[in-house]
Amino acid sequence: MSKYWSDVVHKLTPYVPGEQPKINNLVKLNTNENPYGPSQKVIEALKLEAAETLRLYPDPNSDALKAAIAKVHHLDSSQVFVGNGSDEVLAHVFQALLKHDLPLLFPDITYSFYPVYCGLYDINYQTIPLAEDFGICVEDYNKPNGGIIFPNPNAPTGMPLPLAKIEWLLQNNTESVVVIDEAYVDFGTESAVTLVNQYPNLLVTHTLSKARSLAGLRVGYALGSVELIEALVRVKDSFNSYPIDRFASAGAVAAMLDTDYFDETCAKVIATREALIKDLVSLGFDVLPSGANFIFAKHQTRDGAELSSALREHNIIVRHFKSPSRIAPYLRITIGTDVQSELLLKALRAILS
Ligand SMILES: Cc1ncc(COP(=O)(O)O)c(C=O)c1O
Repeated sequence: MSKYWSDVVHKLTPYVPGEQPKINNLVKLNTNENPYGPSQKVIEALKLEAAETLRLYPDPNSDALKAAIAKVHHLDSSQVFVGNGSDEVLAHVFQALLKHDLPLLFPDITYSFYPVYCGLYDINYQTIPLAEDFGICVEDYNKPNGGIIFPNPNAPTGMPLPLAKIEWLLQNNTESVVVIDEAYVDFGTESAVTLVNQYPNLLVTHTLSKARSLAGLRVGYALGSVELIEALVRVKDSFNSYPIDRFASAGAVAAMLDTDYFDETCAKVIATREALIKDLVSLGFDVLPSGANFIFAKHQTRDGAELSSALREHNIIVRHFKSPSRIAPYLRITIGTDVQSELLLKALRAILS
């Protein structure tokens, strides 16, 4: 606390990201990064970008990147907004589209950055409890609101919501913006991008940090109607005109256009996930259905916190959330390579024996 701080800073409870420990040979299954590196085409594009042109500012409108994203999603560039990671895109979304008199609605168990943005921008919000089975009941959001946001698949549960449920919500909620945060959608969840042309109040956010293996480059984007995108551009141009630097643009364009590599690595992650779920079930874990590159699993007899620290002794880190108490028994485990799954299972067998 300091007398020099503004009131809002005194009241902030900042987001706590997953650890990035500097330990060798760690099996790092805690922050949902992709176990495979980015496409070779990304590396080549980045090398070409290390040039004299770095003295110049990048394109403030990121036209090349928007064109690549629009091409992949069969939309127009005017329906694309890009930012420094989807966290920055989301921050602008909260300020530009979700701050109204009526409360913003999101699940009680979800991405823990949402309440942080509400604190930063002084947004009134209400959390809607997940159902007993941890699913999102869209009917519970059918009430006056200043906006609705949730991830699909949800985090940290990994549970996917069928597209028909999202469409029902859009049909019944026309007066405020519905944001679907699709950070993990490419690992087997139906995307709502196909609904963007039909619903002017739908905004879908994506990241290149997960399925495109570029968490280190910091690129995310939003897809929606021209009027929603314009609101985001207004906030961005009142904050930072150049969120996408020359490297980020070159690497992200290459990653978006290398769809073969993207399909191949997503398929590998999904196959590893399905095999790991079977093995964990045989070790006495209950695993929630996952459409993501992580799973949410609880052991039938052993405590989540205890298992998480025991795994650390074996140089394996997973994510454990102490609160709310309903999820305290669970571990959120990022899907790694098949070799990393084997190391995890070996460690768990030793811990559980
Ligand atoms: C649900 C969800 N949305 C958005 C993000 C932000 O991703 P990034 O800022 O890396 O694009 C994350 C990161 O883990 C996430 O879990």
